[in-house]
Amino acid sequence: MSEKICSVAIDGPAGAGKSTIAKAAAARYGFIYVDTGAIYRTVGLAAKRAGVEPRDEAGVLDLLPTLSIRFDYGEDGAQRMFLNGEDVSALIRTPEISMYASAVSAIPGVRAYLLDMQRNMAKTTSVVMDGRDIGTVVLPDAGLKIFLTASVEERAKRRLAELAAKGDPSTYEEVLADMAQRDENDTNRAAAPLRAAEDAVRVDTSALTLEESIEHICALIEERFSLGA
Ligand code: DC
Repeated sequence: MSEKICSVAIDGPAGAGKSTIAKAAAARYGFIYVDTGAIYRTVGLAAKRAGVEPRDEAGVLDLLPTLSIRFDYGEDGAQRMFLNGEDVSALIRTPEISMYASAVSAIPGVRAYLLDMQRNMAKTTSVVMDGRDIGTVVLPDAGLKIFLTASVEERAKRRLAELAAKGDPSTYEEVLADMAQRDENDTNRAAAPLRAAEDAVRVDTSALTLEESIEHICALIEERFSLGA
């Protein structure tokens, strides 16, 4: 019998801990971690470089066929993003590119263009995939769907610490305002808005440490797929 392919979809707002938790869980079970936000960020960076306003739907859609967007995994297992052959993995992690990503991701044509790239990853290998619409659109048949949340204040606090560690001078007020703005964009857009799939397990990490959150998610994975850690 061929080995079972397990798909875990983790959705939720920015800063809920999705990527750190998904990465840790994927590593524990030998699954591939797919960060779909990084793909939208790469399109955002491309728009910025081309001088295209990220809400300019026609401008962004014209840009897409001129781009080569690709991702693969380094020896450390980390996902790396390539834009026209250039490794842009670090460049896409700025607050400005977060906003570009949020804007371009509201364009239905952008979402459609990136759909197969995301789905194909889960066809041949077990994945933990995080994003906003993984359980609802990208992998509607995922074996486990998790909707990860935390209060906006707690998420802003966590994101501020991440940015500060990279030397970014943003203040708590700025990060909180950006976070609230992105929540608003991602939740209220017409195309694949951020929402929990009906069959998603909701997990609020506001009062959990990172380690507790990881253990909680891993317990859900082990139970759902009958895995021993
Ligand atoms: O997860 P992230 O913060 O890196 O994502 C950046 C932006 O991309 C986010 O504001 C919304 C968008 N996004 C999306 O629309 N759908 C996804 N599956 C992942 C991200």
